[in-house]
Amino acid sequence: MLLHYQSLSPTHLAEHLHTCNKTNLPVVYSQDEWKTFIHSQTHIIDYKLDNEKLIGYILVQLNNNSAHICSLCVDTNYRNKNFGSQLITKMANFLHKINKNFITLNVQTTNTVAIKFYKKNNFHIVETLQHYYGYFSNAYHMKRILT
Ligand SMILES: CC(C)(COP(=O)(O)OP(=O)(O)OC[C@H]1O[C@@H](n2cnc3c(N)ncnc32)[C@H](O)[C@@H]1OP(=O)(O)O)[C@@H](O)C(=O)NCCC(=O)NCCS
Repeated sequence: MLLHYQSLSPTHLAEHLHTCNKTNLPVVYSQDEWKTFIHSQTHIIDYKLDNEKLIGYILVQLNNNSAHICSLCVDTNYRNKNFGSQLITKMANFLHKINKNFITLNVQTTNTVAIKFYKKNNFHIVETLQHYYGYFSNAYHMKRILT
């Protein structure tokens, strides 16, 4: 499901989401998986465009009373301009409105930029998940309460 109304066609969007995803993150979804997320009732995607170019996105999975950020990315040339925070804030407001109580995510313990970013956006570390991204790579499980 899309939170964004200025929609690209699903095929075009899936292609752009996949490209942004694969250049920036260790967990990569195929174009077909992105298409499934676009049409799914259990996942929500929001994204930002600069003219026709996709410059960032957020993908969350809905659970009973919470949501989990599966993927979040801002194009390298557009970082540190608050776009990532805008994506989180809009999504958090929407999730609160549909009665979700908290948001979770997992992030590599070495991704210091993202950890600082999430802390600034009111997430806190709940626990360390050992070997989450393979034997040599741990993750922090982080959580933000929605009020
Ligand atoms: C994490 C990410 C989404 C942040 O997006 P962004 O649009 O650059 O973030 P914002 O501009 O909203 O940044 C807000 C805060 O994040 C932190 N931050 C962002 N870029 C940073 C950098 N290069 N170095 C240190 N801190 C940084 C800062 O705390 C910043 O606040 P400040 O400017 O007041 O210090 C982006 O860096 C990204 O796409 N990274 C690659 C993918 C990734 O790691 N995703 C998360 C994996 S779970």
